[in-house]
Amino acid sequence: MSKGFKAPRGTFDVLPAQAAARARIEDTAKAIFARAGYGRIETPAFEDTELFERGVGRSTDIVQKEMFSFEDKGGRRITLRPEGTAPICRAYVEHGMHKLAQPVKLHYSGPFFRHERPQAGRHRQFHQVGAEAIGTDSPLADAESIALLHELLTELGVPGVELRLGSLGSPDARREYLEELRAHLRAREGDLSEEVRERIDANPLRAFDSDHEGTRAVMEEAPTLLDRLDDADAEHFAEVRSLLDGAGIEYRLDPTLVRGLDYYTRTIFSFVCERLGAQSEVGGGGRYDGLVEQLGGPPTPAIGWAAGIERILLSLEEEDEEAHRDVFVAVADDSERRRALALVGELRRAGFSTELDLAGRSLKGQLKQADRLGAGRTVILDADGAAQLRDMSSGEQRPVEPGRVLEELSG
Ligand code: HAM
Repeated sequence: MSKGFKAPRGTFDVLPAQAAARARIEDTAKAIFARAGYGRIETPAFEDTELFERGVGRSTDIVQKEMFSFEDKGGRRITLRPEGTAPICRAYVEHGMHKLAQPVKLHYSGPFFRHERPQAGRHRQFHQVGAEAIGTDSPLADAESIALLHELLTELGVPGVELRLGSLGSPDARREYLEELRAHLRAREGDLSEEVRERIDANPLRAFDSDHEGTRAVMEEAPTLLDRLDDADAEHFAEVRSLLDGAGIEYRLDPTLVRGLDYYTRTIFSFVCERLGAQSEVGGGGRYDGLVEQLGGPPTPAIGWAAGIERILLSLEEEDEEAHRDVFVAVADDSERRRALALVGELRRAGFSTELDLAGRSLKGQLKQADRLGAGRTVILDADGAAQLRDMSSGEQRPVEPGRVLEELSG
């Protein structure tokens, strides 16, 4: 045998025993979206690279380091989608969806691609379910969107979830705030850790996450963005919070919450699961009021989120599913295989999950296989045209009339 292949680094195969748990997540999400009036959208797995450069932001880690980009045979710059929001806004503009009644509510699921360092809960091909409500700036839309993700995680039983909530305000307010924060850091530069000091220009917000004692003392006195929101943004955020309070959705206000995509404005949120280690966010999102316009559409406020299917699976600690079949059809003699195939067809049409031996096993081997498949009962077709029914848990076996097998199984 020549040397075999492995799935590429950071990717994985979904085997049959794992498929059901994944399907449950997608099905639960689909049911929630259908009840909330979200329509399904599917966009291509790859897009023009520039869509993400403009949409996600040239200075983000995603665009700088993590995209799978290539030139196609026509010399076009192409990227495997690292996220779904920019493509959906592209589709919104391309299909003139701003002419529909607003907001346009869309949901999606599928594979996404980021060239990150693989670890538990972080892959290079991963899967998201997500929802976008495009064409509304109402705080109600923020609260409803957050409530949908909250409902999904609750219905799936994701344990130990905390909702963190923040607001980024407008890009202008944010820019001014960052300057103020940089000035605060520079004024106390001597107390900061080296790491934070080196990043004052590039990313002053990182200082809020530092464990360094001196830095923490400096940050306790640092202004937060929430204190610097302009009146309209502050009012919007207060309304979102009051709606969440009214809906009984608990959250922790996080004045230093940031997200890795540049398009966010105003409300941002993150659902974290304490059970997951470093990659603790199961899902998150926020408002992106400028993105549609940035991609060539009319000014269009919007909000949405995405959740990672692999992160949810990890948090649920789902075990591989055990096999189960209603019936196995075995033959005591090779001459009965034709009869077995006909019976399997009949039983399947009647709704029984049914298998027969496809590997030429002896009768003993077939009963072993029936056990392996978790069959509740086995029909044994004898050489003389007779049949027997075996209860696989008790081992009890009794003759049945060959023409009445379906009736016996149904009874
Ligand atoms: P994101 O925070 O980059 O947001 O990703 C959303 C979720 O995808 C994360 O919370 C995480 O569960 C999962 N995820 C991200 N990267 C990986 C990875 N490498 N491996 C496994 N899971 C991962 C977005 O993508 C935005 N488009 C969300 C959004 C929608 N904002 C507004 N609308």
